[in-house]
Amino acid sequence: MKMQTVLIVGATGNIGASAIHAALRSKLHVLAIVRNQASAEKLFSNVGTREGITTVEADILSDHGVKNVVEKVRKGELPAFQHVYAAAGGLFDRTSILDLTTDDIRKYMQVNFEPNLLAYQATIPYLLEQNDPTSTWTLCTGASGDNGSLAGASITQGALFSLANVACLENSNTNIRFNEIYLGLFVMAGAAAEQAGVMKASEFALAYEKLLARPDIKGCRIKVCQQDDLTELNISKKLE
Ligand SMILES: NC(=O)c1ccc[n+]([C@@H]2O[C@H](COP(=O)([O-])OP(=O)(O)OC[C@H]3O[C@@H](n4cnc5c(N)ncnc54)[C@H](OP(=O)(O)O)[C@@H]3O)[C@@H](O)[C@H]2O)c1
Repeated sequence: MKMQTVLIVGATGNIGASAIHAALRSKLHVLAIVRNQASAEKLFSNVGTREGITTVEADILSDHGVKNVVEKVRKGELPAFQHVYAAAGGLFDRTSILDLTTDDIRKYMQVNFEPNLLAYQATIPYLLEQNDPTSTWTLCTGASGDNGSLAGASITQGALFSLANVACLENSNTNIRFNEIYLGLFVMAGAAAEQAGVMKASEFALAYEKLLARPDIKGCRIKVCQQDDLTELNISKKLE
């Protein structure tokens, strides 16, 4: 059987590194969107290899960024993909709600929310057209949306939870297994994790690796809030 590919948005970040570890361990090829060559080098250093990874430059914040990547895939200039993992974002600071300006709010939505929505809009039509029965689409969200710890970041996580609800419903009768991985721990890529005493991206990767291997998981939230959640996946239906 031909090797499958996962398209990763936010591939150069901590969670993107984790998705790459999971994909490579699951024998999938990786198509990683990067904003420039410096980011691509960060990605290779994060995961410790270049093997099995194709990078493509695109501006994930623009309406056409991921759409142009999908066009290149359609033309055969990039590998066809069957899976998508979105973990774009990472913007956070301690500004209180009262001090958030409209510019701040727009920036938070633009960086933490919109690239994930745009990636969904750009890739779902392609996955529907391909009609591969094993397709998956996975969104990583954060528990800050529930614990209210950081105004801008928490509010944008709330929007991502809702995006995942709608996407679970919209794909309930499609060939695409849409799921949300909800992370309640700090995860970092590379040696930085050990220095900071937080979970390694290569370890968190287990959640996505198991999700990929389980065709029964569809329309679900997989919570990773403690170490044990990687041994036995904590799965609940997003909408019942
Ligand atoms: N890490 C965690 O512990 C954690 C916990 C809970 C939830 N999450 C979820 O995962 C998401 C990503 O977290 P992370 O730790 O992986 O963040 P990160 O390391 O900062 O990575 C964010 C990704 O988004 C890209 N990005 C950010 N701003 C951009 C911009 N202006 N233009 C283009 N690309 C941009 C980054 O590209 P560059 O590399 O080029 O900057 C990178 O690929 C969070 O927003 C959240 O939803 C993470």
